Amino acid sequence: MINLANFSSIFIANWKLNGNIDFIKHYYQKLTTNNKNCVVVCSPSIYLNALKIDSKNMFRGAQDVSVYREGAYTGELSAEMLEDNNINFCLVGHSERRQYFSENNETVKLKSLNLIETNIIPVICIGETLKEKETNQTKEVLIKQINESVPNISNSKNTIIAYEPIWAIGTGLTPTLEDIDEVHDFIKRIDKRFNTFKVLYGGSVKTSNSSDIVALKNVDGCLIGGASLKVDEFNSIIS
Ligand code: PGA
Repeated sequence: MINLANFSSIFIANWKLNGNIDFIKHYYQKLTTNNKNCVVVCSPSIYLNALKIDSKNMFRGAQDVSVYREGAYTGELSAEMLEDNNINFCLVGHSERRQYFSENNETVKLKSLNLIETNIIPVICIGETLKEKETNQTKEVLIKQINESVPNISNSKNTIIAYEPIWAIGTGLTPTLEDIDEVHDFIKRIDKRFNTFKVLYGGSVKTSNSSDIVALKNVDGCLIGGASLKVDEFNSIIS
């Protein structure tokens, strides 16, 4: 398993359902990283082996994994298969998967467990809807998501948490810096075992806001969607 303690910040690109071979060639010709930060690219699974890994701080991540280990489950990819292909990270419970593919806390927990057992770091995504925020339910929602989706064997070395307010994803809206820091602090204090977890922020991260967000005391990096598809912008975010 990758030693997360080696890095000051973690930046994860979530390409979602985007990219192709030409895009990847162009992207990796221009992608530049320094050794301080951990950089993970989560492309669609079929392209993971086309991603170049030529520096000690660059890794590949999947966007999802099966709850099943093997068997008659057409279309699925298991944690063992990801491990077999040297995939080091996997997003789990992204809000788009929860919304469009019926992912729930129970499946997120099972998937995370399978990943940890195969030495892949799950990036467990949590976050509130706009309605939940407006009705002051954010903390309650996060407690439930954390308690129900983080396996007991999770610790700061084998699991990452990503806080992604759903209303901030792909909208250009973000919480205030104070709110981001406060929520991250809250997440780390839901239980003392979470104190040392890496907690990433995601939701409309771009060049213009990334350095302020990453500088926050309780933020350990970012999960970046739309802006990670523009390699120049991603380079400036991770630099
Ligand atoms: P965004 O997406 O950066 O485009 O808001 C973030 C995510 O979905 O992980």
